[in-house]
Amino acid sequence: MNPEADGPHGPPPYPFSSNGSRPDPRCREWQRVSPVARVRTNTGDHAWLVTGYEAARHVLTDDRLSHSLTTHPDVPKLDVPPIPATVANSMKRLEDSGLFAEFMRAISPSRCDWIRPCMAQLADELLRDMSAVDPPADLLKEYLYPLPHFVACRQFGFPPVKDARYLRWSQVALSMSVHSPRQLEDNWNEYRAHVLHLIEAAVSGDRRQDTAGSVVERLTTANDALPRDDRLEPAELADVMGGLFMASHMTTVSVLALSLATLLSTPGAWEQVSRTPEVPSAALEELLRHALWIHDALPRIATEDMEMAGVRIRAGDLVLTCVDAANRDPRVFTGPDTLDLTRSPNPHLAFGLGTNHCPGSAVARTVVRGTLTPLLLRFPRLRLAVEPAEISWRPDEQLRMPETLPVRW
Ligand code: HEM
Repeated sequence: MNPEADGPHGPPPYPFSSNGSRPDPRCREWQRVSPVARVRTNTGDHAWLVTGYEAARHVLTDDRLSHSLTTHPDVPKLDVPPIPATVANSMKRLEDSGLFAEFMRAISPSRCDWIRPCMAQLADELLRDMSAVDPPADLLKEYLYPLPHFVACRQFGFPPVKDARYLRWSQVALSMSVHSPRQLEDNWNEYRAHVLHLIEAAVSGDRRQDTAGSVVERLTTANDALPRDDRLEPAELADVMGGLFMASHMTTVSVLALSLATLLSTPGAWEQVSRTPEVPSAALEELLRHALWIHDALPRIATEDMEMAGVRIRAGDLVLTCVDAANRDPRVFTGPDTLDLTRSPNPHLAFGLGTNHCPGSAVARTVVRGTLTPLLLRFPRLRLAVEPAEISWRPDEQLRMPETLPVRW
């Protein structure tokens, strides 16, 4: 395979597969033969797909590969942009306006001490409700989706209530090439109006006490203190906060759904993690490595010509890091497709690397563990109510997600 030759039909289309149970065989093959190779994205643009672990580390830590330029109108795209550029690039927006430090304080590891007891109570309530009905139940709908949602609401300062519209807004905003630009815009406008309303309520007299220290309270206070010309407009603030809320919540749900699907499909795995009162760190890291949660990839734009893994990349080219493939690279992870809950070391890239490394990783680890532990304690005999191969995967979302996860206990 010549990574720079396109073949008679042009480069193959990417993403390859929405299946979250097993990696697409092409990833392993490409890793071996050409860890940087050409693909065609959903928009028809050409890109370089990086499947090898070392090449992925290179891309994520090389300053000549820009994250912020991916939203520029004139560069090749991974997908039709489903959200405004300000949202896709919200960290840059916060940095430019000097609000980044406040955001980091609101999601800092010290806030995890507050999340733990709050999660335990919410988990208890949700699991009590779930066990009150006859099995099977959809674990995704009853528990894996709402628990991180309620935690994110508390963290952001939004009221922790179920709202069916939010699921639709996030499914459309995180979709891949199934909606027209107009539908995407309408969807985001509705969501923005909703977030604006939540922000106003969070900083109003009635709710101020409940929202102290939250993302909304910190960002709005810091924004108000900026010189007038530097301040984000209310709609911009809603874009940034709404985007951060959605991204942080849905990534966590995706990782949890995939982790549960794997734990319950791997003989003995559920029993193994049940043996300790809390999910051990090695098991948590292995679940993060093993979860094939990124359906598309982490995009970057080359700012100058360069060579990588023997391939010439030109300034302006789109480079896609396939984290799922890198985390299953056999040159780094022995038996990469096996869930080894004691694996160590485990230098996975689930939270990215370099400048854009996930700033919410401490919170994410706390939420994943805080979701799994009460489930293990209450349902030590939890099992899938369908064969693993019968789980169907949502085809068009940027984050892999099963349609449902039916379980018995
Ligand atoms: C298990 C759950 C999560 C996973 C696997 C995850 C993974 C990632 C990854 C891979 C990136 C890097 C994107 C890139 O390099 O292009 C990222 C960025 C980011 N994550 Fe997370 N994340 C999770 C949860 C969270 C949570 C809970 C928060 C906030 C509380 C959060 C906030 C962010 C932000 C703000 C960025 C953008 C950073 C930047 O552009 O500089 N994430 N995340």
